[in-house]
Amino acid sequence: MFSNLFYFSWFFLTTYRQLTKSETFAYEVLSNPEKREVYDRHGIDGIKEGGGGGFGGASMFEDLFGGFFGFPGSGSGSGMGGNRRRRGEDTLHPLRVSLEDLYNGKTAKLQLSKTVLCKKCSGVGGKSGANQRCKKCNGRGVQVQLRQLGPGMVQQLQSICSECHGEGEVIREKDRCVECKGKKVCSETKILEVHVDKGMKDGQRIPFRGEGDQQPGVEPGDVVIILQQKEHELFTRKDSDLIMERSISLTEALCGFHFVIKHLDGRDIVIRNQPGEIISPGKLKMVPEEGMPQYKNPYEKGNLYINFSIDFPERNFASEDKLKLLETLLPPRPRVEIPTGEHVEEVDLIEFDGSKNFHGSGSRVEAYHEDGDEDGHGGHPRMQCQHQ
Ligand SMILES: *[C@@H]1O[C@H](CO)[C@@H](O)[C@H](O)[C@H]1NC(C)=O
Ligand SMILES: [Zn+2]
Ligand SMILES: [Zn+2]
Repeated sequence: MFSNLFYFSWFFLTTYRQLTKSETFAYEVLSNPEKREVYDRHGIDGIKEGGGGGFGGASMFEDLFGGFFGFPGSGSGSGMGGNRRRRGEDTLHPLRVSLEDLYNGKTAKLQLSKTVLCKKCSGVGGKSGANQRCKKCNGRGVQVQLRQLGPGMVQQLQSICSECHGEGEVIREKDRCVECKGKKVCSETKILEVHVDKGMKDGQRIPFRGEGDQQPGVEPGDVVIILQQKEHELFTRKDSDLIMERSISLTEALCGFHFVIKHLDGRDIVIRNQPGEIISPGKLKMVPEEGMPQYKNPYEKGNLYINFSIDFPERNFASEDKLKLLETLLPPRPRVEIPTGEHVEEVDLIEFDGSKNFHGSGSRVEAYHEDGDEDGHGGHPRMQCQHQ
């Protein structure tokens, strides 16, 4: 996986001023193969002990070359990790679950293919002692080239060692493990049992510690299952509450109703509204404790909210006489004083299609925009108006 990865580092030792002590020192280390070798093996302390002399402090060195000797964090390859045991990356897997699953809990079996250390050679890649430090890169896994571009300016080019492919060591062909062919790892199918607990949420992570891909010298990362809740056709979840939409007729809104819903655990819930408990549009009604169970406390439940919309009757659903009759049952209208005189105008309402622009298609505003576009004078609507 490293074959295409090149790591370029540039640094400039400025020519406008005298090099500082530490810069000079760093430059010396990088350009002197012997010192470079000592640094590679023993780090900065090795150089200081080995008589580098006169160097102010390791932190300056790190500041100057921060990340320079380091290798980009991700990936495998034991050659350049140093002594510290690195940790592999976590492997993320989405798991699609229904709202029912999150309500009731469930166990899902997930089949994964993962990389494991070869069991035959225990991840060595061959017989013990078959591994040899790569001569080409001296076990670092990277080849470093330094090029002086000008006075006080150096380019360093690091590339993956072509001999050992970043491993830092090589195994002679005849010594290679027959099982893994010297690769140290094999592929394996693994089945994970994922326990989706009651009340878990969309986006919740379920980690399996250390179940990530194995690599020699690398502590395996975790496999992390991420729950993804499918949309439910009836309920929307909001934390531990459930919300549903329901449309009812005006008659039901005024005179009471009952209807049945299938809950997430399969129960039929009969929802009742007594006559006289008026439902008005946009008002939420609640059924206590029929929401989602709480995670880790599943006997506590949220609420179920119902967002009602009300279907009014079609126009002319009743004759004028019947409407008069209906009116006798409904609360009385507010009294309206109708003014008289010349300044009074009486108008009728007509249907308005809400999807259209409020100005309507014949308005002056729209007309002149259209003219502007057609004539290509979009930027000068005023001139258009003067001609009209
Ligand atoms: C209730 O439904 C109306 C119309 O669909 C919507 O505008 C409103 O946001 C809903 N309210 C809630 C709390 O979901
Ligand atoms: Zn090498
Ligand atoms: Zn093997």
